[in-house]
Amino acid sequence: MKRRELVLGLGAVTGAGVVIGVEGWRSPQSPRQQSLALPLPSRDAPPLRKLAAQKNLLYGAATQKRFLASDPIFAKHFKQECGLLTPEVELKWKRLRPTPNDFNFKDGDWLADFAVQYQMAFRGHTLVWHKGFPPWFEGHVNALNARDHLLHHIETVVGHYAGRVHSWDVVNEVVFPIHNRRDGLRENPWLQMLGPDYIEMAFRAAAAADPDALMVYNEVALDFDENDKKRAATLALLQRLKAKNVPIHALGMQGHLRGKTQINPNKLKAFLREVSALGLKILITELDVTDRAFPRAIEQRDRQVAKIYAEYLSVVLQEPAVIALITWGLSDRYIWLKNEQRVDGAPPRPLLLDEQMNRKLAWSAIANNLKATSKRSSPSLTHNSLP
Ligand code: XIL
Repeated sequence: MKRRELVLGLGAVTGAGVVIGVEGWRSPQSPRQQSLALPLPSRDAPPLRKLAAQKNLLYGAATQKRFLASDPIFAKHFKQECGLLTPEVELKWKRLRPTPNDFNFKDGDWLADFAVQYQMAFRGHTLVWHKGFPPWFEGHVNALNARDHLLHHIETVVGHYAGRVHSWDVVNEVVFPIHNRRDGLRENPWLQMLGPDYIEMAFRAAAAADPDALMVYNEVALDFDENDKKRAATLALLQRLKAKNVPIHALGMQGHLRGKTQINPNKLKAFLREVSALGLKILITELDVTDRAFPRAIEQRDRQVAKIYAEYLSVVLQEPAVIALITWGLSDRYIWLKNEQRVDGAPPRPLLLDEQMNRKLAWSAIANNLKATSKRSSPSLTHNSLP
């Protein structure tokens, strides 16, 4: 049977990677534009974890224990495609801390064991965030005991998983220039109770509790053209931490992309270069593409989602400091974007496999860009027990 292909519009093949042309943007290094077809994915093509490993990269996804434990078909596809697992909720305060004195590692341990069993790297997500607190937090934690609570939490949790974690999102989403502070930080409970030093405090405690894991600062919406202030404030934070010898090893770019092209490739590339120049690695930690702005017709919708994935990856994977690519979910059967429902009520299709676990064009967009990217000099695994 003749292989069916969908043409994604103008694009170019450059030395640095496959570029899919997107309205309003042409690759600066590729004057010779040509039509580029993105093949419909085949069931038999090698999985993303393998394509990534061939380039010393990691591909993985976030998911929850309840999905893997209750759905063997999903679990089968998850372990086929993913070389890394991020717990979507199980390691947040809300889930780990039933009371001020207790830790419940049951679900996190289940996921860590699953990762080990199927040779996946395991991520820690997340220790410091302005969301996901348990109900007892407010009213119990105050300026007097906040330092002890923060350090006790980090030492216990990071210590519990020490040796099994590839990388920890130590601090999540704390840059928020809209709050108008000179340091660009978000007015969150930790800042209010401890002042800005809580950030380095958290990194130092995490690195002491697990010297093998990469310690990551994770941030949202660094990708968008209009977010110059956020990029600048994030860079300034990273510079301050490096200048103080804080043990920070990587920046996590969440990459929750919206349904319209809002990437400025030159700004994005320059930002990644600057991060890399600080001696930091970069992980794409939560990639997904909202299909809210796209037509209901599935073929068209999937094509537009795939275009956004392809455009984004053709830019970020050019940066050699990028060592991992993680999507926030794998299959449209399990999506987190409840607040991004479509007006037409159609089930959203933001991920790489459809609800029946068939590979979508978004899968091809990732596969093609992994094939086209240059090989990293060494695998990013930091712990001895990982393959
Ligand atoms: C989200 C989860 O996907 C949801 O299931 C949960 O209810 C709320 O948190 N940025 C992050 C993630 O760093 O932790 C968030 O995860 C998504 C946005």
